Amino acid sequence: MKKLFILVALLSSLIGHSNEDWGPTGHRTVGEIASHYLIEGVHEKIKELLNGQSLALVSTFADEIKSDDRYQSLSPWHYVNFPFDSSYDAHPKSEKGDIIIAINKCMEIIKSVDSNKEDKAFYLKLLVHFIGDLHQPLHIGLAEDRGGNQFQVRWFKEDANLHWVWDEKIIEKFGMSYSELAANEKLLTPSELEEIQSGSVEDWMNESRLLCLDVYEHTKEDENLSYNYMYRYAHEVRHQLQKGGIRLAVLLNQLFA
Ligand code: ADE
Ligand code: ZN
Ligand code: ZN
Repeated sequence: MKKLFILVALLSSLIGHSNEDWGPTGHRTVGEIASHYLIEGVHEKIKELLNGQSLALVSTFADEIKSDDRYQSLSPWHYVNFPFDSSYDAHPKSEKGDIIIAINKCMEIIKSVDSNKEDKAFYLKLLVHFIGDLHQPLHIGLAEDRGGNQFQVRWFKEDANLHWVWDEKIIEKFGMSYSELAANEKLLTPSELEEIQSGSVEDWMNESRLLCLDVYEHTKEDENLSYNYMYRYAHEVRHQLQKGGIRLAVLLNQLFA
């Protein structure tokens, strides 16, 4: 009995803390919302490339391969870190790549007439994931605390870290599945939608960086985050997921039109 308890505790700590992304619910919500915004014909082309799998389903692929040694070099592609008083362009780029380099590479391979179906499908799955990550503010983070992974907080009295709160904890509190989250998107006016769809991948990154700054201004180390934090940020998280989905569709509509 005791052994079983230790095993369960060990497994749940591994599952809980080793995850470094919007949890599956966040990523799947982005994929599902994107599928609502695909233009005529693009949906079919993508479905064919993914052998029938949905964008929601493939959105977590990049996390599923993280522990596979063959894909270790992809780990730094999920995020970018630079200091608050610097900028993406001014700060030296990591040789190992970052989320912007990764997104550009994925788009190049999907577009290229020289890449085969297998590669296109592989990089499409990564792209779906990285556009999700791009909208998690702590993925446009600071190197010194590894994007908040080393920023200790408490979440409703339990030990957590800031990154984990933003990847999963806030979303878990909604108590909704990804389909429910996607089906209950905020209604947007045409001009709000147009605003979200405009800009470049780097503009979208800079927007996440602004939210990241706001998070650091409103979160103290070792603080117990609870309902007040939900009041402040729940709608921001929902909005980030919605923007991620809409913008993923913008890129896919360009790539597959
Ligand atoms: N590891 C180091 N920095 C990170 C970040 N900003 N997001 C996720 N994982 C990281
Ligand atoms: Zn993360
Ligand atoms: Zn990721």
